[in-house]
Amino acid sequence: MNKTVKITETVLRDANQSLMATRLPFSDYAPILSTMDRAGYYSVECWGGATFDSCLRYLNEDPWERLRGIRKAMPNTKLQMLLRGQNLLGYKHYHDDVVEKFVELSVKNGIDILRIFDALNDFRNIKTAFEAAKKYGATASGCISFTQSPVHTVEKYVAMCRELKAMGFDTICLKDMAGTMTPNEAEGLIKGIKDALGDMPVVLHTHCTTGMAYMTVFRALESGVDVIDCATSCFSGGTSQPSTETMFYALREYGVETGLDEKVINAVDEFFKPIKQKYMDNGTLNPKSLATDAQALVYKVPGGMLSNMIANLTDMKAMDKFDDALAEIPAVRKDLGYPPLVTPLSQMVGSQAVTNVLLGERYKQISKDVQNYFRGEYGIAPAPVSRELQDRILGEGGEPVDCRIEDSKRDGADFEQAKAALGDLAQSEEDLMSWICFPPQTEKFLQSRKEQAERVCTYTITEA
Ligand code: CO
Repeated sequence: MNKTVKITETVLRDANQSLMATRLPFSDYAPILSTMDRAGYYSVECWGGATFDSCLRYLNEDPWERLRGIRKAMPNTKLQMLLRGQNLLGYKHYHDDVVEKFVELSVKNGIDILRIFDALNDFRNIKTAFEAAKKYGATASGCISFTQSPVHTVEKYVAMCRELKAMGFDTICLKDMAGTMTPNEAEGLIKGIKDALGDMPVVLHTHCTTGMAYMTVFRALESGVDVIDCATSCFSGGTSQPSTETMFYALREYGVETGLDEKVINAVDEFFKPIKQKYMDNGTLNPKSLATDAQALVYKVPGGMLSNMIANLTDMKAMDKFDDALAEIPAVRKDLGYPPLVTPLSQMVGSQAVTNVLLGERYKQISKDVQNYFRGEYGIAPAPVSRELQDRILGEGGEPVDCRIEDSKRDGADFEQAKAALGDLAQSEEDLMSWICFPPQTEKFLQSRKEQAERVCTYTITEA
């Protein structure tokens, strides 16, 4: 175990996203930020992921304003965001100039650390975001989407880490989004990575979903991991991360220095307790998400994917096909070259498996998403895909295209389009960027901001 282990606090982003669908507004947690600033965290993960979309879609909040607010209240803490490479915070490929500008604005508004990942671990998809992060002076953390399959061996993961190091990333993050990494797997991976990369800091991100996380994190610590992701205890467990304070006390007994201030981290938890209660009471935080569900370990698929499949089969009154559909998942996944089962690939594999079973014939119908996947729109598959399916979708001998070639060719076009669509509703580059990422949501938000400003204005004049 290292003499020093640092902790990233996730309550503002991943815990918020995993337990309560990212519905925590800035105004709820603003009063605790200056206290959190004294906690001694490695970083606070506070932005990116689903927070951006949620601000505009549900909370009538400007995500950039939120980031500036956090930055102002926490001048001494490293602020961290999660970025899905070339997809930014959405699900489509953005052009290189958009990706670069997005990263520039993120850093300008307060981000210190960008954790960058691609669902398929196709690192061409994170190159532009990485280069921009370095250009604008941020720390770039290269992230690996962890999954289990016959082709995902320790050697393969170590090779990926070497690639990330060669690209110039500052740290490596192992991202176990389904919470299915076992203690033995953590040990194999972290020792393998440490042997290969020497002093490159390694971060472990996992979820408590299956109940494995505390054991896995502890073995990771024993294997030399440098940073672990945790959430303040009242927002920990279930689909969220392990508890910050619990890890603090366990590590203190081992003489490991976390740099955390005991009083402060306990005060942070006290602050969030009534907030959690409020969202439990109004149903936003479903107690189900706090439970342990080990099914994902049995079937080797993420919990969210299973519950989706059950919901779909129940809707179609076909729950008797559940076992067949479950058995079809690994078969479809093999045909697709073993993609990690993470959004949007988990949905893609799950619904194709259900279709194959319900129609009584494999690939009688091939979903549009699966067709686009074979065309190369999501990147390169981890292993060779089914040649037979590829021929059917792309024509005999057809090969996928590299969608990135087009990404580099659209200088400024998206910004021109945003300006034309928004007119005087846009008051900054950030507004334009929000529109490029989420057009209808941004338009609605900017319209409401304008109306509010006009009301305030009228009110001031009347008062005078
Ligand atoms: Co996560």
